[in-house]
Amino acid sequence: MHNRKLGPFQVSAIGLGCMNLSHAYGAPVSAEQGERVLLSALDAGVTLFDTATLYGFGANETLVGRVMKPYRQKFTLASKCGMQGVDVNGDGKLVRVIDGRPATLRKTCEDSLRRLQTDVIDLYYLHRWDKTVPIEESVGALGELVRKGYIRSIGLSEVSASTLRRAHAEHPVAALQTEYSLWTRNPEIAVLDACKELGIAFVAFSPVGRGFLCGTLQDVSTLHATDIRRSMPRFAPDNYTANLQQLTAVSQVAKDMGCTPAQLAIAWLLHRGDHIIPIPGTTSLSHLAEDLEAANVSIDAATIAKLDRLISQHTVVGSRYNAQSNSEVDTENF
Ligand SMILES: NC(=O)c1ccc[n+]([C@@H]2O[C@H](COP(=O)([O-])OP(=O)(O)OC[C@H]3O[C@@H](n4cnc5c(N)ncnc54)[C@H](OP(=O)(O)O)[C@@H]3O)[C@@H](O)[C@H]2O)c1
Repeated sequence: MHNRKLGPFQVSAIGLGCMNLSHAYGAPVSAEQGERVLLSALDAGVTLFDTATLYGFGANETLVGRVMKPYRQKFTLASKCGMQGVDVNGDGKLVRVIDGRPATLRKTCEDSLRRLQTDVIDLYYLHRWDKTVPIEESVGALGELVRKGYIRSIGLSEVSASTLRRAHAEHPVAALQTEYSLWTRNPEIAVLDACKELGIAFVAFSPVGRGFLCGTLQDVSTLHATDIRRSMPRFAPDNYTANLQQLTAVSQVAKDMGCTPAQLAIAWLLHRGDHIIPIPGTTSLSHLAEDLEAANVSIDAATIAKLDRLISQHTVVGSRYNAQSNSEVDTENF
């Protein structure tokens, strides 16, 4: 697979999102399956692995650390801080909390390093901007971690172009990670251009629309009770049915091109700019192989224009986040 620039690193054009091995879309996979997916990705040439303190409340970092430790020199390791599980009620139950205070970020980094079994994290993102803390303070704390050698570079997630510029003025930002796909176009407003101008890589999360763009998830009532998509408006049954209708034509485009809808979705992102790095997530070896093959799919300008007519923020039914999650991001909600 060809490489793309991410801060000081050259990484595979498609990275692996490790989240759903431990978190988010139903029950976590077995340790053995998690190991198989991670090692198959490495074998297939993936050199960017994305995890976070939040995922499985530490379990995902622990999995990545255990499995990937012997290969640590072969890939760029990305993790995140600023959003984690906290026992707020003292009853042993962890609740997701956004906390961007410098002392918290320093402590979280120590915990990440221990779980990841490494001396240094290549790219450490602020997972969410804690709006009660000026962005300069949180980013300043991450800059201190760079100077101390605990992390090599800084990223942000789900922030607007203006917040990105403020952060970048405080300390160089290597990457911005934000949701971007055929059905989530808000980065096109300003932040994609800001990244390009500032030389910041844009890491596209949920590139296959959390499964929607693959065409395989037909019935949302089959989702696991704990699946976070159940709380997302565009996965609500009526909205989802309407969205699936739009996918028929998109799938036909993929068929005409001789690829799968998932490959079309990932290839579309790769064609939107050289600074864009999609990180699909999967628990399945066959889906992994399928997704990585997208690096070899070419899309011409006429097809890009056709896709713009078939699916975009103007056609999709339902916002991507519910009100609570939306209040936690610094980006537009579509
Ligand atoms: N910064 C943030 O706030 C944030 C938020 C969300 C995610 N992320 C990162 O982005 C990564 C990817 O995002 P994501 O997992 O939310 O969304 P995604 O990659 O768009 O979609 C993952 C879903 O699609 C399915 N899938 C993947 N490839 C498939 C294929 N070829 N055919 C059929 N189904 C397929 C997976 O199911 P199977 O397991 O069955 O393949 C899974 O349910 C995460 O792992 C995480 O690292 C970051």
